[in-house]
Amino acid sequence: MNLQTVRRRLGTAIVGKHPGPDPAPRQVAPASTSVPGSRTLTEGFFDRFPTFLETSETSSYRWRLNLRHEAIFTENRDLLAGARVLDIASHDGRWSMAALEAGAAHVTGVEARPDLVANAEASLRKYDVDESRWRFVSGDIFEVLRDEQIEVDVVLCLGFLYHTLRHSELLTRVRQTGAQHLVVDTEIHRSDAPVMWLDEETVERQGNAVADELSVGDVVLTGRPSLSALEMLGRGQGFEMKGLSDWGGLLRDNPDADQVRDYRIGRRITCRFDRT
Ligand SMILES: C[S@@+](CC[C@H](N)C(=O)[O-])C[C@H]1O[C@@H](n2cnc3c(N)ncnc32)[C@H](O)[C@@H]1O
Repeated sequence: MNLQTVRRRLGTAIVGKHPGPDPAPRQVAPASTSVPGSRTLTEGFFDRFPTFLETSETSSYRWRLNLRHEAIFTENRDLLAGARVLDIASHDGRWSMAALEAGAAHVTGVEARPDLVANAEASLRKYDVDESRWRFVSGDIFEVLRDEQIEVDVVLCLGFLYHTLRHSELLTRVRQTGAQHLVVDTEIHRSDAPVMWLDEETVERQGNAVADELSVGDVVLTGRPSLSALEMLGRGQGFEMKGLSDWGGLLRDNPDADQVRDYRIGRRITCRFDRT
């Protein structure tokens, strides 16, 4: 049976009506339960560590990074004191530095682009962080986690989950680190159903995927899970989603914030998983 026939049998009403890249109605960041005014930010992490505003070409906007720091670190500070941390796709070291500043005992950052690893190392040295507390590995996260037994307490998977289609494999490797906690910051597909939005991206851009053993040429297949798909993926590897960070409150209390539209419209979230 050829594709045309399959389409005809399924009915053009379904197949012909392409839902578009994100069919959900415009929704806003989840309603906040925090007290109005309690999430106002005057001085953020990146005002204290401004080097990171210069060492990346990928969304390194002051407001965006400062609010992401609030959502990722201020809200999960309890996880980090004394913890061994794995920072997946550690980029220029921005979040490895934040984890160390939040009290992590040690951070291993894994980043595929060597120039970004060099930037991370230079910045942590610049800020005089003891070299016994950090290590950056230049390599594909899938290969590194397959070849090295990295044991940690907390895994940070920030800005990476929608740059791969290998979610289950990644979460299996995360489980194998022994981590009790996982913090994820990711774009999501705004559907109530547990679906994965497939896409493809080229490897040229600094913030995109790199070619890996499953990709062909310079295009990598990616998947953006819906929230319920993300929950299901976590559960499949023994991680329960414990809550979403308070983007509603952060955006309510910082009305001047720019470059955060994806969080504002609920297309991107920050969440925490605990090992069951
Ligand atoms: C959008 S950036 C996110 C950077 C940072 N974690 C953040 O949240 O701000 C994605 C990063 O993933 C890295 N990356 C892409 N594919 C990778 C892979 N297979 N293994 C390790 N890092 C990868 C890219 O080089 C880039 O630094």
